[in-house]
Amino acid sequence: MPVYNLMVNGKSLSVEAESDTPLLWVLRDELNLVGTKFGCGIGQCGACTVHIDGTATRSCLLQISSLEEAKITTIEGLSEDGTHPVQVAWKEHDVPQCGYCQAGQIMTAASFLNSNAAPSQSEIRNAMSGNLCRCASYNRIEKAVADAAE
Ligand code: FES
Repeated sequence: MPVYNLMVNGKSLSVEAESDTPLLWVLRDELNLVGTKFGCGIGQCGACTVHIDGTATRSCLLQISSLEEAKITTIEGLSEDGTHPVQVAWKEHDVPQCGYCQAGQIMTAASFLNSNAAPSQSEIRNAMSGNLCRCASYNRIEKAVADAAE
């Protein structure tokens, strides 16, 4: 199998994988970064969201062979100690219920706020609309994103 050199959470590392292996499975199965979750595997739910060069991206759709030049950030690398403003707001609003989708939600929110530091409620709702939550924690998500922006 080919070997790919990746930059994940600020660390350079090498991974042996088939070229079409989705990043999601490299993160979870090879690197033990299991905060990134498998939901649908077809780009529909957002549970697998990571940052590629700072942009929220669905890792289930990314082939490992396309990522050698990319800066990959997972929920484990968003902050050193869980104090990213989005993570702090998530705790203050007690957002998660079952928790499964939350890493993807947080990664989407963090990327969004980097591009829009003072969003309206409708902009927040629109930005987060692609991340599904079966517990329907959407109201708390919107409030936490608004707080994180302040
Ligand atoms: Fe990637 Fe659902 S697992 S979008």
